[in-house]
Amino acid sequence: MKFFIDTADLAEIRDLAATGLVDGVTTNPSLVAKTGRNFLDVVREICAMVPGPVSAEVTAIDTETMLAEGRRLAKIAKNVTVKVPLTPNGLKACKALSSEGTMVNVTLCFSAAQAILAAKAGATFVSPFVGRLDDIGAAGMDLIGEIVAIYRQYPTFKTEVLVASVRNPLHVVEAAKLGAHVATLPPAVLRQMFAHPLTDKGLQAFLADWAKTGQSILGEPKKHAAE
Ligand code: E4P
Repeated sequence: MKFFIDTADLAEIRDLAATGLVDGVTTNPSLVAKTGRNFLDVVREICAMVPGPVSAEVTAIDTETMLAEGRRLAKIAKNVTVKVPLTPNGLKACKALSSEGTMVNVTLCFSAAQAILAAKAGATFVSPFVGRLDDIGAAGMDLIGEIVAIYRQYPTFKTEVLVASVRNPLHVVEAAKLGAHVATLPPAVLRQMFAHPLTDKGLQAFLADWAKTGQSILGEPKKHAAE
């Protein structure tokens, strides 16, 4: 399962990329707005930091302008993935951009029917939003199961299921059990995934017992002959 980081915050991306566990980044207009920075600069800097796919979303709603924006974004770097909304115009743009060799992430997917359309439009990724479905009392993870199962029936569908709107580590575990290709994680969720109280407690006990032995795996520093 690939992990993308769902943020436009460069410091967070730099910090988490250092774990070696980050395969890509997703942004959206709301996340970019939070940075208060120029969108194209932010995308350029993220692309230089993370070699994997970096989703950058168009903000037009008509196909022609989406295409112009998508082409502009795609020129920034080879790893730009143009994000388009799951609308008829968005899917037209998806088809055109995909046929030009640009990676496309179809976002704001809330049903299996929409996910089928995204795959037929040649999307590289489809982003079903599990958290926002949970928020309205629907079972977001059921949608992931449905989409994964449907895509498996059609080997010609190359679209990867990118689980978005992830709110907690359990979402990631459930998505992994279902065989989703990618999860995009808010930085806090990736950090939460490392944590377990028994890990901390166990490590403290091992270190305390080791200290009693007086040993060091690396041994004493060697003294120079002249000393
Ligand atoms: C990612 O591509 C989405 O834009 C993001 O996961 C949405 O998350 P939210 O529902 O927490 O805003």
